[in-house]
Amino acid sequence: MACTLGGKAIVVTGAGGGIGEATARLAAALGAQVLVNDLNGDAAETVAREIREAGGDAVSNAGNIGQWATGQALVAAALKAFGRLDGLVNNAGVFRIAPLAETTEDDMRATFGVNVLGSTACAQAAARHMLAQGSGSIVNIVSGAQCGMHGLTAYGASKGALATLTYTWAVELAGSGVRVNAVSPMANTQMSHQTRDYQTAHAVPLSANGPPPSANAPAICYLLTDAAAGLNGQVVRISGSALTLMTHPAILAPVLENPSWTVDSIADAFEGPLAIRHQPLGVVQAALA
Ligand SMILES: NC(=O)c1ccc[n+]([C@@H]2O[C@H](COP(=O)([O-])OP(=O)(O)OC[C@H]3O[C@@H](n4cnc5c(N)ncnc54)[C@H](O)[C@@H]3O)[C@@H](O)[C@H]2O)c1
Repeated sequence: MACTLGGKAIVVTGAGGGIGEATARLAAALGAQVLVNDLNGDAAETVAREIREAGGDAVSNAGNIGQWATGQALVAAALKAFGRLDGLVNNAGVFRIAPLAETTEDDMRATFGVNVLGSTACAQAAARHMLAQGSGSIVNIVSGAQCGMHGLTAYGASKGALATLTYTWAVELAGSGVRVNAVSPMANTQMSHQTRDYQTAHAVPLSANGPPPSANAPAICYLLTDAAAGLNGQVVRISGSALTLMTHPAILAPVLENPSWTVDSIADAFEGPLAIRHQPLGVVQAALA
């Protein structure tokens, strides 16, 4: 199948570098008109200019998505530049790494301010427009850190929240023509360098050295195309050569019934049928049921 983004206008946040930049470049190569947002306006303009020089259509935007009003401003800028909006990639992200005991209030507020509140403001503004036109695709960039990783209290929790927002928005928007999915990427960027430095310092097993950011762009762009029209509420993991889906949090069988659970009967359950259902720690490959 030849997938295209021709005729679509896409906003990519945090696209002045890394995975966002690679996504903006591939989306443009697939025919999309692209709004390249980044806190670093010079970086965003460089990416947009190079897309234009390569024959594509792109404009830059220097907004800070950590400010709530930026979401609406990005939608307005896309409509002004292209007259339409078909896709949003909530890619901009803030990374902090520290053990729980050393995590600061600022770590929590900074990561949640951009990764959760900023992504929500952008999604809300985009969804309002997309609902009115009856079509659109929102892609949230989450992380394997949502499963629990050493040192990622603030960042992991923010990405777990964004995964939950993906499920929530997908449920709300189902049937409207607007889809919400997520990608859990892996790339060799400054974020992965910080992770490996931390892991070395804390004698934690090293994460894999990721592929270049461009390796992640096809999965993100696929979700923006009409070829993915049947996908909603999915978290796609792309990790180098490995393409998979992430499981959703779900109620795990067996469900034990007892009209009046007591501490002792719960203890018996955990020593009995629930003993083999304890969940592993960290990012693991779940066996298929
Ligand atoms: N690199 C990985 O292996 C990896 C793994 C899992 C998830 N992610 C996620 O992928 C996304 C991209 O990560 P990356 O590795 O390319 O990071 P990166 O740091 O290389 O790029 C992030 C970009 O976002 C911009 N940005 C940051 N805050 C912003 C704000 N408030 N408003 C607008 N732009 C802002 C930065 O200026 C930067 O250009 C992030 O959401 C990250 O959490 C990355």
